[in-house]
Amino acid sequence: MKRPITYYAGTGRGMPDRIVRNEEFAAMGLETSDEWIVSRTGIKERRIAAPGETTASMSALAAKAAMKRAGVSVEEIDAIVLSTVTSDRLLPATATDLQALLGASRAAAFDISAACSGFIYGSVIAEGLIATGVAETVLVVSAEKMSAILDWTDRATCVLFGDGAGAAIVRRTKRADHGILSTFIRSDGRLADLLYRPTGGATIPFSEEVLNDRSHFVKMAGREVFKHAVRSMSDAADYVLKDAQLTHGDIDVLIPHQANMRIIEATAKHAKISMDKVYVNVDRFGNTSSATIPIALDEAIESGRIKEGMTVMLVAFGAGFTWGAMIVRF
Ligand code: ACO
Repeated sequence: MKRPITYYAGTGRGMPDRIVRNEEFAAMGLETSDEWIVSRTGIKERRIAAPGETTASMSALAAKAAMKRAGVSVEEIDAIVLSTVTSDRLLPATATDLQALLGASRAAAFDISAACSGFIYGSVIAEGLIATGVAETVLVVSAEKMSAILDWTDRATCVLFGDGAGAAIVRRTKRADHGILSTFIRSDGRLADLLYRPTGGATIPFSEEVLNDRSHFVKMAGREVFKHAVRSMSDAADYVLKDAQLTHGDIDVLIPHQANMRIIEATAKHAKISMDKVYVNVDRFGNTSSATIPIALDEAIESGRIKEGMTVMLVAFGAGFTWGAMIVRF
């Protein structure tokens, strides 16, 4: 097994208070039902940001909770890595807004765009910053205000997602018995058009036409995404187990990206990890893109589901496509 370089010193989450239940979509004029959504996805409700709640403000809640849990002061943060597909403004990075909100004046702050795999990508970047001596303490935040980029007239997408943020403090470990044991990240840009926002970027900027045809909102080929998600997360799980010289029996808790109950079950089955070891909160929060894993991680630690000494697997898949996995000992 590799000697770990870094560990999660603390985690936190920042969730909006407002809950939207499946039953409420009918009142919005959408032809859907609680029965359809639960049977296809396992989602019962999601959190939706209130006016004034932003990607940066949810990030700040999660970051403050993670710093508190880690016992780290804001002056100690050397870098802020923020993963999001819903930056508050197109320029500058939301990470710099977060830096200002926190008063983390010593930090270098930047955003990364890896969609639902963003927390794993962010953790890998943090590990690299620490391994090279650029930083000792890195704040990794994944925050998504998905409600701002969804077409609320498209029942095939808007019922799937929610808003929220999760964060972790990544630090150098001096112990060989805990920390990040293995990481894996991959992408395949040939499949980008299966889950994307066609317009509103630099190629086809916002115009009256774009706003009228609603092409700036998230578009998704659901079945194709489903197929690739299961296959890629399964491959990623196999890779990190082998790399860490572990077997499925060594995993105490699996935290998969929370997109859909059926994807979670198929991934766990492939990894030969029984569902009682899988942390699930997609029923309460829906798919919060890159925020799902750190939110679930924080809940699992807070509730005592993850205890010291346990070995945890994280695995994700998202737009791009991007995917990845990690094994972490707590
Ligand atoms: N309510 C009722 N009916 C709906 C809804 C809805 N909310 N959405 C779609 N339908 C209808 C469709 O219009 C279609 O009707 P038709 O047969 O008359 O044309 C029918 O339901 C079946 O549609 P499918 O898309 O074939 O349904 P499927 O069983 O594949 O389920 C789903 C759709 C849930 C999106 C599934 O494909 C899926 O889970 N895909 C993975 C997508 C995902 O999780 N993406 C998240 C982002 S990527 C990631 O995070 C991993």
